[in-house]
Amino acid sequence: MESITGTNPTDIDHLWWQTGIIYQIYPRSFQDTNGDGIGDLKGVVQRLDYLQWLGIDCVWLSPIYPSPMADFGYDISDYQGIHPLFGTMEDFDELLEQVHSRGMKLILDLVPNHTSDQHPWFLESRSSRDNPKRDWYIWHDAGENGALPNNWLSVFGGHAWEWDETTQQYYYHAFLKQQPDLNWRNPEVQQAMMDVMHFWLKKGVDGFRVDVMWHMIKDARLRNNPVAANTPFVASDLIYEYHDPVYSTDQPEVHEIVRMMRQVTNEYDERVLIGEIYLPIHKLVTYYGADKSGAHLPFNFQLLTLPWDSQQIARAIDEYEGALPADGWPNWVLGNHDQPRVASRVGRSQARVAAMLLLTLRGTPTIYYGDEICMRDVPIPQDEVVDPQGLNMPDRNVSRDPSRTPMQWDPDTNAGFTDSKPWLRLPYSYQRQNVALQKEDPDSMLSFYRSLINLRKRQPAFQTGKFTPVYSDKQLIAFIRENDEDRFLVVLNLSHRPAYLRPKNETYKGEIIISTETERIGLRVDNNLLLSGDEGLIVRLER
Ligand code: GLC
Repeated sequence: MESITGTNPTDIDHLWWQTGIIYQIYPRSFQDTNGDGIGDLKGVVQRLDYLQWLGIDCVWLSPIYPSPMADFGYDISDYQGIHPLFGTMEDFDELLEQVHSRGMKLILDLVPNHTSDQHPWFLESRSSRDNPKRDWYIWHDAGENGALPNNWLSVFGGHAWEWDETTQQYYYHAFLKQQPDLNWRNPEVQQAMMDVMHFWLKKGVDGFRVDVMWHMIKDARLRNNPVAANTPFVASDLIYEYHDPVYSTDQPEVHEIVRMMRQVTNEYDERVLIGEIYLPIHKLVTYYGADKSGAHLPFNFQLLTLPWDSQQIARAIDEYEGALPADGWPNWVLGNHDQPRVASRVGRSQARVAAMLLLTLRGTPTIYYGDEICMRDVPIPQDEVVDPQGLNMPDRNVSRDPSRTPMQWDPDTNAGFTDSKPWLRLPYSYQRQNVALQKEDPDSMLSFYRSLINLRKRQPAFQTGKFTPVYSDKQLIAFIRENDEDRFLVVLNLSHRPAYLRPKNETYKGEIIISTETERIGLRVDNNLLLSGDEGLIVRLER
């Protein structure tokens, strides 16, 4: 990493979504209160004190709307209701009030790219070719001999076009055939979704995480996607990665839609628009839009998608810091409900290093529920798999169930999540790995997370201070966070072997304030730093 000076000014006021920490709850798996084995809104209320104790500022809920649950709520059949599995609108209002009364924020998942095939809009659209809502979805004639309109593939495997017998046309679905894509070129669709946003914002919801933002507009001419340059080795050419989705995603016109959404949020005080976007950094940052016209936070998934390699990660941090627009606020994500859990990706021994990285980098961190107690992916027997991605591609080990298992609260039956059979099984180890035990243990992952979160909240240098890369090699990443008052050195060993930081031109003297090796806390550092394998530490530098 080259030594460059951090650029962000520290003298401007920052908003809650810049200084705060976001926590993603997968509601099915957080806390069941009505004994059906599935988490619910009352359960979230019950656990708010825990989140406040942990130091969370904002809760993001994965979808809680009415849905046939073909994709566990990402197939919405009513954008302005609550699924009875999760509770009622009164429960939601109570949750919102309880969150706000603790000084916290609540953001919802908005899934505007597609609806459920059971949504009244789609039922109308598919009822006849001249239905007024026909053009709300992407319909196309068959080619010669019934050929598909083009070669686009579904993210969940197979072709992305489904034939409709009644009206003799195909419709497009980027995900399941039960998730038809809306036609965002139609102004009525645009208006309908802006109305949905107003509905929730008027209620007081603090913003949205927008599902698959980069998918929302497709090539007007529906051109074929090219075969990927580095075609992955896949058993079938009907696997999504076989193509480069250059015509089915990330179209220039998408920014116009994002701008509309931003304008809606701008009508309310301090609401946030977050975009789910899996793209390389140079494309990702275009979603900030020119002059703050795009998303406040296009989710940055580099820590999720890159190999756990110090040099690659250091490079990505540099590239991201360099590519951000002048007024673009950074953010970092370590886990979500679509990816293997961090402790399963990088291993338990590195999970603390990963947490330290997430919580000391410049920009808003998002924590996935359970990562704070080092939950790992739970192996799910084939006959218990429920995730459609796993069911559709059984040989690829891509089911997302393992990272969506119930929160492990305590050593009691079903980890305190439910008193009946949980919708996904728990790991055998939950009696050892749970919130209750870790709360009591100063050396636990939970205590470690809490001390990092507390540090971030207490020290503006971490929330809003400058970021300056110091050093990286095959094992280490080191950087400085500072403001006018304080200066901290963060050193992370991403390898299992001892590593040595031997600065050449600078001297680093100070006191270790947090370390994965708790015994080192309070010890002084005099320039040369030795790190054990898997160690990360933070030094408060003398000025
Ligand atoms: C997003 C969601 C994922 C869902 C998909 C389709 O990627 O995070 O869970 O399956 O969109 O809505």
